Amino acid sequence: MRGNWLSPFVCLLVSLSLASEFTNGTDTMWQGQTITQPNTITSSGGRFELGFFSPGNNSKYYLGIWHKVLTQRIVWVANREAPFSCDSSNLTINSDGQLLISNGRLSYEATNITTRIKRKTFATLLDSGNLVLQDPISLEILWQSFDYPTDTILPGMNLGHDTINGNFWSLVSWRSQDDPAPGSFSLRLNSDGILVVHNRSKPYWHDTSLDFESYGGVYYNSFNTYGYISWNSFDTSGTMQMVLDAYGELKIQSWSEDDKSWDALESSKCSH
Ligand SMILES: *[C@@H]1O[C@H](CO)[C@@H](O)[C@H](O)[C@H]1NC(C)=O
Ligand SMILES: *[C@@H]1O[C@H](CO)[C@@H](O)[C@H](O)[C@H]1NC(C)=O
Ligand SMILES: *[C@@H]1O[C@H](CO)[C@@H](O)[C@H](O)[C@H]1NC(C)=O
Ligand SMILES: *[C@@H]1O[C@H](CO)[C@@H](O)[C@H](O)[C@H]1NC(C)=O
Repeated sequence: MRGNWLSPFVCLLVSLSLASEFTNGTDTMWQGQTITQPNTITSSGGRFELGFFSPGNNSKYYLGIWHKVLTQRIVWVANREAPFSCDSSNLTINSDGQLLISNGRLSYEATNITTRIKRKTFATLLDSGNLVLQDPISLEILWQSFDYPTDTILPGMNLGHDTINGNFWSLVSWRSQDDPAPGSFSLRLNSDGILVVHNRSKPYWHDTSLDFESYGGVYYNSFNTYGYISWNSFDTSGTMQMVLDAYGELKIQSWSEDDKSWDALESSKCSH
């Protein structure tokens, strides 16, 4: 072949253009690819979608995960404390392997892999609604959105403490229906295994009667190291969810195909 000296350059160009090509609707993104509105990642079974959204009227853009078919309700927000004001914000994986939201001027790391070395990762949105960042060789899960809940528990998530692995799972409400910024209400599991909602630092209500086992929750407890409810056996069809709303109400909901809406199986509020 002529012009052999060009080859590395050509290869670089080819690999760059291959790398930056993101097929809308696939479930995985790689380093070098970019996702910009209206492109999204869709889980392989089509249940969940990840992309940018702008709730209500505010002109702020967030990266989130929502039910793709069931009313598109947002279940997770990556940058609730750092909204972007521009609809051309990009999602990429940076050279450290972290998910990065940027708009050219500002950037925000949406993940928190604890590593000091630069590494390759890829991100996949699973059909459970979990976004996982993995090492492409070992397939080790380095970060997952299920460990950083927003205001919603999906089947497969936990609530409580696991000090061995350094996980603390809790919910923090949206500030209002149109504002995913952290609101005043939080849901935590206390050391007695009881779900407690706080209004900022003040206990708001707790529910000793909530029979979470009937919703598939299993309580794991070991003195001083962990105490958490795992919703692993919670209806794996993915049509149930537990939501702490902006008014401090905790709702366990299941999808009703007849009404095309989320019906409350149980709703707990303020039994001071
Ligand atoms: C959006 O804003 C307009 C005018 O500011 C208002 O009329 C409309 O009701 C708002 N919509 C929502 C969903 O808040
Ligand atoms: C977003 O990514 C696209 C494609 O890679 C690029 O052309 C554009 O400049 C990026 N926009 C911003 C705001 O970084
Ligand atoms: C990331 O993890 C480090 C160490 O675990 C922690 O100190 C830091 O606050 C975390 N940052 C975010 C944004 O979660
Ligand atoms: C939550 O606490 C704030 C004060 O920190 C108070 O103003 C507000 O009324 C409380 N909300 C409810 C629903 O009790």
